[in-house]
Amino acid sequence: MKIDVLLGLQWGDEGKGKVVDVLTPQYDIIARFQGGPNAGHTIEFDNKKFVLHTIPSGIFNENTVNVIGNGVIIDPFILQKEINTLVESGINVKEKLLVSRKAHLILPTHRLLDAVYEKAKGHEKIGSTLKGIGPCYTDKISRNGIRVGDIENQNFYERYKSARSRHIQIVKQYDLEYEKITIDGMFFNDYEIHWHEALKELNTLKKINSEYYLNKQLEAGKKILAEGAQGTMLDIDFGSYPFVTSSNTIAAGVCIGLGIAPKNIGKVYGIFKAYCTRVGSGPFPTELFDNYGDVLRKVGNEFGSTTGRPRRCGWLDLPILKYAIMLNGVTELMMMKSDVMNHFEEIKVATKYQVHGKVINEVLFDESEESVTPIYKSHPGWDKDITQGANFDELPIELKNYINFIEENVGVPISMISYGPDRKETIIK
Ligand code: GDP
Ligand code: IMO
Ligand code: MG
Repeated sequence: MKIDVLLGLQWGDEGKGKVVDVLTPQYDIIARFQGGPNAGHTIEFDNKKFVLHTIPSGIFNENTVNVIGNGVIIDPFILQKEINTLVESGINVKEKLLVSRKAHLILPTHRLLDAVYEKAKGHEKIGSTLKGIGPCYTDKISRNGIRVGDIENQNFYERYKSARSRHIQIVKQYDLEYEKITIDGMFFNDYEIHWHEALKELNTLKKINSEYYLNKQLEAGKKILAEGAQGTMLDIDFGSYPFVTSSNTIAAGVCIGLGIAPKNIGKVYGIFKAYCTRVGSGPFPTELFDNYGDVLRKVGNEFGSTTGRPRRCGWLDLPILKYAIMLNGVTELMMMKSDVMNHFEEIKVATKYQVHGKVINEVLFDESEESVTPIYKSHPGWDKDITQGANFDELPIELKNYINFIEENVGVPISMISYGPDRKETIIK
């Protein structure tokens, strides 16, 4: 068997959590391969809403195993809160959750460093979720990280203390009193106490060598879906650097983040919104500053699942979509949030860019707004609500034309259309 992949093609928050949950009954295992609690994946069903940060979105299905892979970074405090919320809702998390021993730990001082680095950048800040992502991956790559499998080592606390004091020394260089920095509403020292308690809890979870586990399951014919976090335009290599996250969010990240050989990658589901959003700083060529932008934000409830920040909104950008399809080898597209534009008179799509008088259809090295003017194709809106249980043939003709236009331009079929946050508000084409 090959492993299928589901990932975001824009700047994150495309609706990955919803689709993973919808597809989960078809899979035996769902595995996260990168990112950490900067992710916020929303799942809605039976009038309940859950936001997952570290746990894969397959956790609501009784028979599916969920794996946190080696490429993921874990904050025990955030993970514990997540587990508690699920357990309170009657979900049997611990039985179905497996954690890679090679996943790195986000230490309290990684979060301090994130806060300090962002503050020091001033206007140039990344707009990080401040979950310690950059500093933790930095330690991983510079070979200073601490992994889940290290918790049981006798020298764990020595290593923790050494990393802590190295980080505190850096914080002090910025003339900041770390004791006064708050994390999740707590002063650093209090947060650190809670973090250590949560670490004990993390140590009670089932820990595995996930690369062996997943490859053996594939050999045994089990179906596995890899769940991406963030989106292609936030990829450390191919996103709008430096306004990106610190991991490889693209399909290649599955090989690294789960230990799967490239020849064993199967379908690649690419998720995109019928428009675009971005939270945090960085270029966004089709960003809207007018009433259309406000309506997208309001009707689409475009506020961050992890931070609550308002998301920047804009029209769909085909050069970016095509770039993401190319980088990921997308085999099927899934279009989310079409309902948000139900009552738009006009819908625009950027097909190319104009840059210094030249027409370009590729994503540029620097997509900053001054130099890039999108060239738009206008489409009539459909002014109609899509009712639950509708099938593809019943969709308004204008929406079908919009879908056909995208498919023809990018050369990949759209196999799923989502028209609401609930599991049931989904059309398989
Ligand atoms: P993720 O990070 O990719 O999993 O996406 P988020 O959960 O951060 O953001 C997607 C938001 O859109 C969530 O609030 C979802 O409940 C919601 N959502 C997903 N699909 C749809 C849809 O088709 N229509 C509407 N209106 N909301 C949707
Ligand atoms: P999901 O999985 C949207 C953005 C942040 C910031 C940049 C770097 O829910 O789609 P970081 O915390 O990684 O240092 O932030 O990346 N970002 C996301 N934006 N969805 C996400 O995840 C994101 N994870 C990080 O807003 O601009
Ligand atoms: Mg999200």
